[in-house]
Amino acid sequence: MAFTVAIDGPAAAGKGTISRAVADKFGFAHLDTGLLYRATGRRTLDGTDPMEAARLLTPEDLQADGLRTPDVAQAASRVAAIPEVRAALVDFQRAFARRNGGAVLDGRDIGTVICPDAEVKLFVTASDEVRAKRRLDELLGKGHETDFETVLCDLQTRDARDSARATAPLKSAEDAVMLDTTRMSIEEAVAAACAEVVRKQAL
Ligand code: CDP
Ligand code: CDP
Repeated sequence: MAFTVAIDGPAAAGKGTISRAVADKFGFAHLDTGLLYRATGRRTLDGTDPMEAARLLTPEDLQADGLRTPDVAQAASRVAAIPEVRAALVDFQRAFARRNGGAVLDGRDIGTVICPDAEVKLFVTASDEVRAKRRLDELLGKGHETDFETVLCDLQTRDARDSARATAPLKSAEDAVMLDTTRMSIEEAVAAACAEVVRKQAL
């Protein structure tokens, strides 16, 4: 049976961490849709046309090292504003969402555009400063040389671009449950998300 969990929110809010934990707990498949835009954006860094880049995507591209860098994140956010690029990625995401056995998708437009009928919708947020600190620690841990101000600026630039675009902007679905993780541990955020899944499964 299909059961879709849609998790949206701004950059570094904890979407991926929560999604992976929910998928693990309930045995659902997980798709980090940001990787589709990151892999497309990365291909454009050598001058490839964005539409061509989206068309050329292969499953291997999504596994590639180097998708988690700030440069690729900015490129992702730029290609993500192009309606034709988004359109080229819709069918794959919808097919993934309706697969048997349940699926968790995280991104910006899952609850609003990709899966408006998702059984569970969460909109995960945290203050800009907390998100920047979390992403900074993550990047420093991976050996990147960066600092708080640079990371904060990257997140805020992307959030502004993602929210302002005309097609599938970053915004909460009207029927999404808000999860502000500013003062939550990962365990608390995961528990809140799992409780929402259990609640909807019981309906
Ligand atoms: O997927 P998204 O960009 O929204 O965020 P993430 O990659 O899941 O989380 C960004 C970082 O914040 C990770 O290093 C998480 O371990 C951390 N995090 C946290 O410290 N507290 C939370 N409640 C959620 C995530
Ligand atoms: O992990 P983080 O939240 O920093 O970024 P991501 O989820 O990997 O997404 C990278 C970029 O892809 C975002 O800034 C958006 O511009 C774009 N994106 C999107 O437009 N729609 C999605 N469903 C997922 C990502």
